[in-house]
Amino acid sequence: HDEAAQALFDDLIAKDSRIEPRDWMPEAYRKTLIRQISQHAHSEIIGMQPESNWITRAPSLKRKAILMAKVQDEAGHGLYLYSAAQTLGISREEMMDQLIEGRARYSSIFNYTTPTWADMGAIGWLVDGAAICNQVPLCRASYGPYGRAMVRICKEESFHQRQGFEILLELMQGTEAQREMAQDAVNRWYWPSLMMFGPPDDQSPNSAQSMAWNIKRFSNDDLRQRFVGMLVPQAEVLGVTLPDPNLRFDEETGQYEMSEIDWTEFDEVLAGRGPANAERLRRRRQAHEEGAWVREAAHEYARKQAERALE
Ligand code: ACO
Repeated sequence: HDEAAQALFDDLIAKDSRIEPRDWMPEAYRKTLIRQISQHAHSEIIGMQPESNWITRAPSLKRKAILMAKVQDEAGHGLYLYSAAQTLGISREEMMDQLIEGRARYSSIFNYTTPTWADMGAIGWLVDGAAICNQVPLCRASYGPYGRAMVRICKEESFHQRQGFEILLELMQGTEAQREMAQDAVNRWYWPSLMMFGPPDDQSPNSAQSMAWNIKRFSNDDLRQRFVGMLVPQAEVLGVTLPDPNLRFDEETGQYEMSEIDWTEFDEVLAGRGPANAERLRRRRQAHEEGAWVREAAHEYARKQAERALE
């Protein structure tokens, strides 16, 4: 029986078709998806913090409204993704416990601080730009609920990326101090945004299998290359300098050459020792505790509804 199920699964993957929640799937496939989708969901939820930091201090009512909408979108992305992960048999509570107990990973990028308004521009342009590069191919992920969630998320991410670009453009057309602030933010966010794509291909334990299962479509390094290729002309329009003196396009290989990424920094952030890891988790735990009454009310409501249905 299992062999027939495995053959059916292999056939669906070979045809580049989709696996749906009720289909049989290998345990390792399920586990990989739960890992990636829950990490992704946590990233969206933790990712609300660096920007919500600026909602009360946005420079105008218009900017405040845009930033609030953006942070709210991220909450929505987290919810679609938690829902997609739930279809694989893990509960929301379990994922939340993993996060607040510090047992789950979330993207390294959200462990950096946002000291200036220009960081809102750099996050939109670089962080959401990297997210789009990484996530557009995920719209074709073999697991149906994940791929479909990514379609909507990517549409919203493009708006986020453009609003970030526009913040930087306005700063770059402003005073000398504003231009310096924008450049400083780009200097601080550039390297961490390249790290978002994950370790180099030869040190990425999950890539080969995830690509064979049509979850990932491109390797970490290939996506990093695409991202840099997208940034170079946009940096020119903005008038900002990408902080890598060795960055150049090699006509022969068709690849960007760049300086070595500081993987020690990446490892430190993943080990929980980045600039804001402790603060992000502390704040997440606090929000979870403060939300206990909402969860209680929702459970009680569901219980009463179920009781009434039996009457
Ligand atoms: N931050 C934190 N952890 C990372 C990062 C990163 N930037 N990159 C890789 N890792 C972790 C992986 O999760 C994996 O850890 P695990 O085995 O304990 O789960 C380990 O490093 C090795 O990496 P890979 O073998 O390359 O892992 P994988 O094949 O899962 O690729 C990637 C990593 C590219 C992040 C992939 O999981 C992915 O595409 N995820 C979906 C997108 C996503 O999560 N984006 C979040 C940020 S964007 C946003 O939220 C706005």
